[in-house]
Amino acid sequence: MKRPAKARPASRTAAGGRKAAPRAVDLSIAGRFDRAAEDVGNIVALDHVNLLVDGQRTATMCYLVAMGFTRDPYLMPGVDLMWVNLGRSQFHLPNGEPQILRGRIGIVVPDCAALLARLERVRPRLACTRFVWREYTGHVDVTCPWGNTFRCHAPDAQYGPMALGMPYVEFDVPAGTADGIARFYRDIIGAPATVAAGCSGRVATVASGIGQSLRFRETKAPLPAYDGHHVQVYAADFSGPHRRLLERGLVTEESDRHQYRFVSLAGPADGRALYEAEHEVRSMRHPLYARPLANRDTTQSNMAYRQGHDALPV
Ligand SMILES: [Fe+2]
Repeated sequence: MKRPAKARPASRTAAGGRKAAPRAVDLSIAGRFDRAAEDVGNIVALDHVNLLVDGQRTATMCYLVAMGFTRDPYLMPGVDLMWVNLGRSQFHLPNGEPQILRGRIGIVVPDCAALLARLERVRPRLACTRFVWREYTGHVDVTCPWGNTFRCHAPDAQYGPMALGMPYVEFDVPAGTADGIARFYRDIIGAPATVAAGCSGRVATVASGIGQSLRFRETKAPLPAYDGHHVQVYAADFSGPHRRLLERGLVTEESDRHQYRFVSLAGPADGRALYEAEHEVRSMRHPLYARPLANRDTTQSNMAYRQGHDALPV
């Protein structure tokens, strides 16, 4: 039986075989999506935080056993430096005089209850250190053996699809600097930055990848001297910030073709140093960019082993 012919869409070929000009969509259709919400900005990823520690054994108990992160199985296998994976970010932990980030490092963990159980199990092993934690509504603050604060959250839409990772690093900064710091990132680094009122001053938030940010929270409390810890970011426009930093005398290291560093966040208008925090800036052509990182599923155990569940998809 012959099927009835389907109605065919109107041809977009004009008479004579010429293709009709594409028609612009109606404005009411174009407004259906928030296109700006898809923008990432010039910093495309917050990759790692580097903190000196004074013992790999203690670091292992904290970062791997208590926090549930995974030692990088491929790079830095020795006893002087450990790279630790959490989702698509890392901690770099070389031996040395311990460093303490002046603020807090945001962490997303798959399960806060499981985190609390691990913290309790590890407590006796870290009893002679500053290791402690406290539960709040919506997050858990963990103090590492040397005094760094990890602010741990459950996965949330504000952190994108992150099931485990480092959604933000939040620095405490002197009162009156947040607006200038936001301008520094906008004008020098090319990263979108906003400023809002916080509970003790203003807070600058710098977009730093999908679901990631650098935050600068004003405080009236005295801040300890900067001790040299660093953060590492990847930049899509690598040369633009470099040129602008160089013009202002702010580049502190020309590491290699893929990386440079700066320390001082200076006001673009007057060059006044607002804050110090070393940034390792890498291009997206850096060989380590988007390197796959191994992450373990901490619910896996030898006593209740499930084939195929060793790795946590991130
Ligand atoms: Fe680094």
